[in-house]
Amino acid sequence: MIIENENHTNIYDGYKEFENSLICRVNAYQKMKIMGFCSLNSEDFSLTDAQKLDLSLIQRHFDSLALDQYDENAGRYRQHSKYVYLPLLNILVPQSSENTSCYKQDIGFNDEVRNEARKFQPVPNDILLNNLIRSLIFHDFKNSPLYQYSSTVPMEVGIHFIRMKAMVESPSISVPNRLHKDGEPCTWIHLINRVGVSGGENIITDNTKTNILCNQIMHNPLDSIGIVDDLVWHQVKPIHVDEHSQVGYRDVILIDFTPMLAMPNSPS
Ligand SMILES: [Fe+2]
Repeated sequence: MIIENENHTNIYDGYKEFENSLICRVNAYQKMKIMGFCSLNSEDFSLTDAQKLDLSLIQRHFDSLALDQYDENAGRYRQHSKYVYLPLLNILVPQSSENTSCYKQDIGFNDEVRNEARKFQPVPNDILLNNLIRSLIFHDFKNSPLYQYSSTVPMEVGIHFIRMKAMVESPSISVPNRLHKDGEPCTWIHLINRVGVSGGENIITDNTKTNILCNQIMHNPLDSIGIVDDLVWHQVKPIHVDEHSQVGYRDVILIDFTPMLAMPNSPS
């Protein structure tokens, strides 16, 4: 059962606020629902001292990411894991790494990789259980317009850690390097580190692909963007080292939500 309050914020019956919840002064849910995206600044979040400590742990964790073996020249490092989230009970369970390091995007969404599951280094358990990561997931879910799904429908939560590392004459390029959709109904991007680089603009258009709704650079840790896949197209531009640096990087966490709906057998 889904309840909406007078601000039309989705509140699931049975939802209990996570005790370490992330305080954000912006009602991102309304923007996501109406505009198809939402952009938040780091100052929109008020972190406790414990959350600031968690953030610094997460920032350092990016130094341990493995090179993306599917394009070793693109300067990308990444980890990927999944959780299952039960909205009705507000329970978030990390999935075991043997089963979760595979990430498959339909070729219709990303034709720059083959239509096969890609295996990435899993996110380690201590990071999956980090309180700030969990709070970000709760924040993102609460502000994602997934109201068409009952609170009894489990959600698969994908979490990607991605470092784009640029060197002189060697920019780092996101895939796909063009306007695209991801396939997951809602995705959030949180900047964690940005050092010594230029570029990396986040471009968002409406479904005409010509009407630009957002063209901005995330500069500070926890600058964030949410996307409703059905309503918009998006792209991240390549990053280059800035004029003062030999090497630079841009680190983000992507968090996405997909309802886990049963698929009936089809006749053979
Ligand atoms: Fe994407």
